[in-house]
Amino acid sequence: MKLFLDTASVTEIRTMWNVGILDGVTTNPTLVAKEGRKFEEVLREICALGVPSVSAEVVATDTAGMVAEGRRLREIHPSIYVKVPMTSAGLAATRTLAGEGTRVNMTLVFSANQALLAAKVGAAYVSPFIGRLDDQSQDGMDLIRDIVTIYRNYRYPTQVLVASVRHPVHVLEAAKLGADIATMPFGVMEKLVQHPLTDLGLARFLKDWEKVPKA
Ligand code: G3P
Repeated sequence: MKLFLDTASVTEIRTMWNVGILDGVTTNPTLVAKEGRKFEEVLREICALGVPSVSAEVVATDTAGMVAEGRRLREIHPSIYVKVPMTSAGLAATRTLAGEGTRVNMTLVFSANQALLAAKVGAAYVSPFIGRLDDQSQDGMDLIRDIVTIYRNYRYPTQVLVASVRHPVHVLEAAKLGADIATMPFGVMEKLVQHPLTDLGLARFLKDWEKVPKA
């Protein structure tokens, strides 16, 4: 399973990249706005680290505008995946961009039928937002289960990128269901590493080591 960071913070990305557990990065307009920096500059810095998959979202809402923006974004670096929203215009734009060889991440997906459409137009990734479904009293993980089943039924190559992840149990459940990717905030990825028994165990080992006679 691939683990992505859902952030536009180069500091956070560099930290996890150096740990060696990071497979990619997803950004969105909200995350980019938080950084207060130029979008393209941030994208170039992330790509320069060597991150192999970096999703950058279009903000146009019409097909022609999305295609034009997508073409510009993919020129920035070969690691760029163009993120396109799940609308009729977005589906048409995805078909065009995918037909040209651009890898598209279809975002803002909240139903299995929307995911089916994303696969049909050739999206490389589909991004179901599970945390936002949970917020609406609907189990987001049920959506992941349905999408994984549908894609397996028809052998669609589109990868399921679980987004709007809020805690480590989301990652665990997504992995058990066979989702391809989970993208998460920095804090959630940190929690994947940590366990209080690891810290306690290490402290005890180091304390006991002090009692071992040294040469
Ligand atoms: O990048 C899209 C998605 O992961 C956003 O998550 O927490 O704003 O619902 P959230």
